[in-house]
Amino acid sequence: MSKPIYVLSGPNLNLLGVREPEIYGRDTLADVQGRCESRAKKAGLTVVFRQSNHEGELIDWVQEAREKACALIINPAGYGHTSVALLDALKTLTIPIVECHLSNPAAREDFRRKTYVSLAATGVVSGFGAASYELAVEAAAGLVGANPPA
Ligand code: DQA
Repeated sequence: MSKPIYVLSGPNLNLLGVREPEIYGRDTLADVQGRCESRAKKAGLTVVFRQSNHEGELIDWVQEAREKACALIINPAGYGHTSVALLDALKTLTIPIVECHLSNPAAREDFRRKTYVSLAATGVVSGFGAASYELAVEAAAGLVGANPPA
């Protein structure tokens, strides 16, 4: 049994579906979780899907992923733009890291153009709404050699 893909979401994403739906869409985080699980299943993988509003808890989970995950997907939300500590935790990983955003932060306010997480990410998926998470699962599955035949 292979290790799961860890899918971590940062602050305020528990409010997905009601939080600025014109930017982040109407899918809830539970909907996103279901989509990630289905996509992972097609590649013969599972996901551990978690959300926290707390920087330290996210860092604890990143550290946990060092041993327990085959790949990490993270939507750091606002912490991506601020947290050197989260970047430092990500830099301890040797597994693939996919940074994921629902919106396209590069096309928004200046302060969103930089994310510390990108400095540690293998790649970034952004701007596709809830589908960004599915695409991130697909990318992670590819990086660990688990994509299903076309
Ligand atoms: C976000 C983009 C961030 O700039 C923002 O702080 C979020 C969500 C996204 O998924 O588009 O909370 O990460």
